[in-house]
Amino acid sequence: MQSVDLLITQASELLTLKGPKKPRVQQQMKNLGIIKNGSVAIKNGQIVDVGKNLRYKADAIIDASGKLVMPGFVDPHTHVVFAGSREFELDLKLAGVSYLEILRRGGGIQHTVTQTRKATAAQLMQQSKKRLDTMLSYGTTCCEAKTGYGLDVQTEIKLLQVQKKLQETHPIDIISTFLGAHAVPSDQKTTDYVETVINEMLPKTNGLARFCDVFCEKGVFTVAQARKILQAGRQYGLVPKIHADEIVPTGGASLAAEVNAISADHLLCSSTAGLRAMAQRQVTGVLLPATPFCLMMQRYAPARTMINLGVPVAVATDLNPNCWTENMQLIIQLACLEMKMTPAEAITAATFNAACAIGMHNSIGSLEKGKQADVLILDCPNHQFLAYHFGVNLIETVIKKGQIL
Ligand code: NIG
Ligand code: FE
Repeated sequence: MQSVDLLITQASELLTLKGPKKPRVQQQMKNLGIIKNGSVAIKNGQIVDVGKNLRYKADAIIDASGKLVMPGFVDPHTHVVFAGSREFELDLKLAGVSYLEILRRGGGIQHTVTQTRKATAAQLMQQSKKRLDTMLSYGTTCCEAKTGYGLDVQTEIKLLQVQKKLQETHPIDIISTFLGAHAVPSDQKTTDYVETVINEMLPKTNGLARFCDVFCEKGVFTVAQARKILQAGRQYGLVPKIHADEIVPTGGASLAAEVNAISADHLLCSSTAGLRAMAQRQVTGVLLPATPFCLMMQRYAPARTMINLGVPVAVATDLNPNCWTENMQLIIQLACLEMKMTPAEAITAATFNAACAIGMHNSIGSLEKGKQADVLILDCPNHQFLAYHFGVNLIETVIKKGQIL
């Protein structure tokens, strides 16, 4: 009998997320590739077999009877590296002061920038590691991480280096995004800062980031400025991503399609034409329901419209000092209860489609032979339960690259 390192057996539902080869967007994934009483065999950090009644000689066996087994969550939009916190803003928000008004008054992102500039790399490492540890305990095995709380050359590069060091030292795989254009520093003109991002920051991102993102929003960066920055990022090999149409419609979704972005994120106010263009170019829409939830906006991105139009939909935490959650289970629950996605759609959005949103779908996001063994065992008898039993951590075991954590 062939030997493996780890065999997980008899899961009441094993979600493979294995679909037709291409295109593998949400519409094709409604059944999650479920195997009842399923098993997974793992060797050298990789999945070597998936199916029923697998027969292997295993160094370790986990009996997953009555449990849900699925791919690790992929969190494709986080601002995990920052210093300090902003809990005091809650009173302002409750008094009706809007997110953009707090930013205009020099709070919000600007407050975190001040804290982050003061912090040493070691302090940022320590604060971010704690968040990553929590993410892992809630089942996130890969995340994206954005810079954007430096807003000067030195600090933005410091943040990229911290992200690199976290990737090297933390079990979570961390995919790095440069977001120098997250806000305009309070002492600069927008047009000057755009030039700084393009001429002084982008050339130094070499090898430290995969994606370039811009906060395209009223009072922050216009579509024209975002286009210029994202096109310049391409020259340095950075693939575009956009914070688009979060608070007011600006045409961010259309821009994402125009520049062939890998994803456009937020999308609460996107035009139908913009969403159609995204569907046509298969730009993944990354929906961040925890953000309008904690901003008490009482509206969410139109997930059902996007799915009907054929936009591949992913979900993410948006972890940042305004929206502080590490928990992708909560995001799946908000996706279902507030955005009216089905549990199958939300789980697809938090795994395979999330991996697509950061270009990682060839190695993670589904349980298939040859993929990295990032596997979760949850205390749920079926996948619907994950969207149903909320407010607690349902994770029983996290397996990262074949290692039981
Ligand atoms: O995606 N909207 C812009 N950026 C973050 C929030 C950053 C902050 O408020 O610190 C977001 O929600
Ligand atoms: Fe964000």
